[in-house]
Amino acid sequence: MSSVSQSSTVPWVRVSEAPAHVGGSIEVRGWLMHRRSSGKVQFLVLRDGSGVLQCVVGRNDVAPTVWDLCDGLTQESSVIVRGALRADARAPGGVEMGMQSLELVALAEPYPISPKEHGTEFLMDHRHLWLRSARQQAILTIRAEVIQAFRDFMDHEGFLLVDAPVFTPNACEGTTTLFETQYFDQRAYLTQSGQLYEEAAAMAFGRVYCFGPAFRAEKSKTRRHLIEFWMMEPEWAFATLEDVIALEERLVVYTVSRVLERRRQELEAIERDVSKLERVKAPFVRIRYDEAVARLRAAGHAFEWGGDFGGTDETVLSEQVDTPLFVTHYPAVVKAFYMEPDPTDPRACLSCDCLAPEGYGEIIGGGQRMASLELLTRRIEEHALPQEAFEWYKDLRRYGSVPHAGFGIGVERTLAWIAGLDHVRETIPFPRMLYRLRP
Ligand code: 4AD
Ligand code: MG
Repeated sequence: MSSVSQSSTVPWVRVSEAPAHVGGSIEVRGWLMHRRSSGKVQFLVLRDGSGVLQCVVGRNDVAPTVWDLCDGLTQESSVIVRGALRADARAPGGVEMGMQSLELVALAEPYPISPKEHGTEFLMDHRHLWLRSARQQAILTIRAEVIQAFRDFMDHEGFLLVDAPVFTPNACEGTTTLFETQYFDQRAYLTQSGQLYEEAAAMAFGRVYCFGPAFRAEKSKTRRHLIEFWMMEPEWAFATLEDVIALEERLVVYTVSRVLERRRQELEAIERDVSKLERVKAPFVRIRYDEAVARLRAAGHAFEWGGDFGGTDETVLSEQVDTPLFVTHYPAVVKAFYMEPDPTDPRACLSCDCLAPEGYGEIIGGGQRMASLELLTRRIEEHALPQEAFEWYKDLRRYGSVPHAGFGIGVERTLAWIAGLDHVRETIPFPRMLYRLRP
């Protein structure tokens, strides 16, 4: 086909911008979603990624070749159409095109995804095509909004974006979920968290955050676990546990209200009950781990003090609340090596998880970092981690150590909650899960 941009005499307009062109002629470039014909009139419904446009073709209004071309179009064929735009309240988006010309860019082969119901595995196998569906587009549009909200919020709070590396020489979140890889003649791991690097950056810049992928060889096949996920991790010098809890609360309130404000249409498209999101206001309920254990027992769950909460426990705890719930002061034994001990209870640490309501569970993990070099050295030992890999990290305690705190918020879990999805697999364009590496 010849160059499309040269051939146009009318402006190439995105469907989302089309309403501004009512009364004029425009060009739209997109894909055919479906087509129906009465024999005299054909309706072509196109999508271009920004919206959906209905184009009407009258047999008597176009050359017979154009009519026949339309007649032969298959679902997902790519086309360039031109025509006059008119307002029509019945059409999607409130406008309709009276089509005058059509160029076929590529005729699609029979498309595997039809409007009939498909199983999850089939759709996941065709994820590269499934992304074209209205529902997946709405979800991923909300994802982009969540990420932008995270970034805008942190920037506004005066935190500097400092990227953390993906190849790392040491573990951050325990050795059981490490992805090992060859790094020339050394062993390396894919990052589980940028935290340790953000701690270094916080000693340089005071307030920092990173945003990037994290990798965990999680053997658990649950609705909350991905092998590769995206996380934002702020780190704050001279801050305490209290400071970061307040920051988390502001971040979550901001993110939810921003999605409600800017992505209401997408939330409606996926039938999210927005009234539940409208209830997300500060202050969030805050309980200590001990109280969480008591609540679990009261709900009829046998739970021993000192254990970590599993998915079911989190579901129970977070089903009881309307707003997110902070659980603080976990036993040190269930958390990573770097947690500052609780001065009021040596068994506990200055940690905090934020659980999303409606049974969604943990979306944020964080806390105050260990200040003492001696204790840090001992903890690294107790966790059977190699001291030499952490010498650089221990330098942060040797040269002007200050109290500091931070957290990590997972994009996919946050989105699963905001969008009201029952599994994280739809929250990321190409999910990596225990049994899925393709497409
Ligand atoms: O609680 P986590 O493991 O905390 C850390 O990694 C800290 N180093 C963060 C920090 O303090 N800078 O993970 C933080 C968040 C979780 O609350 C969850 O939202 C997400 O990351 N997350 C996952 N999301 C999807 N799949 C997984 N397998 C996840 N593991 C953690
Ligand atoms: Mg956690």
